[in-house]
Amino acid sequence: MTIIKINAITVPGDNGDELAGRFAARAGAVDNQPGFQGFELLKPTDERNTWLVITRWVDDESFQAWVNSPAFGHGHRSEAERAGQPAAPHAGISSELWSYEIAGGSLG
Ligand code: HEM
Repeated sequence: MTIIKINAITVPGDNGDELAGRFAARAGAVDNQPGFQGFELLKPTDERNTWLVITRWVDDESFQAWVNSPAFGHGHRSEAERAGQPAAPHAGISSELWSYEIAGGSLG
């Protein structure tokens, strides 16, 4: 069974490219985590400013283990922070965690 955890990040104005760049710089940071099945970063193409990080996991325990792991903390710190320097401001101003399971669908 696959479960879906979505981080919905509100990104003001023209900060989107910065956010996308930060994700690209950290691509692969979650790939070897047990139970991880994949993620996509979704950019809004309408007037919304909410970007979605759609992550898929085999079960809730696998997701919780990642969120509570050093790997999560490491992957969410910038190079500057890792080097002991002050953190750059976040590209987003707020975020929400949304939790889903697949209730139906089909493949095209
Ligand atoms: C559902 C799981 C996830 C949670 C709960 C989570 C949590 C967060 C939070 C709270 C932020 C700060 C948002 C803000 O700027 O207000 C953030 C940003 C970020 N996350 Fe995640 N995240 C998740 C998945 C991922 C994944 C899979 C990756 C990539 C490996 C990732 C990489 C990043 C990056 C690069 C940022 C931007 C940080 C910045 O603006 O400096 N996250 N995440």
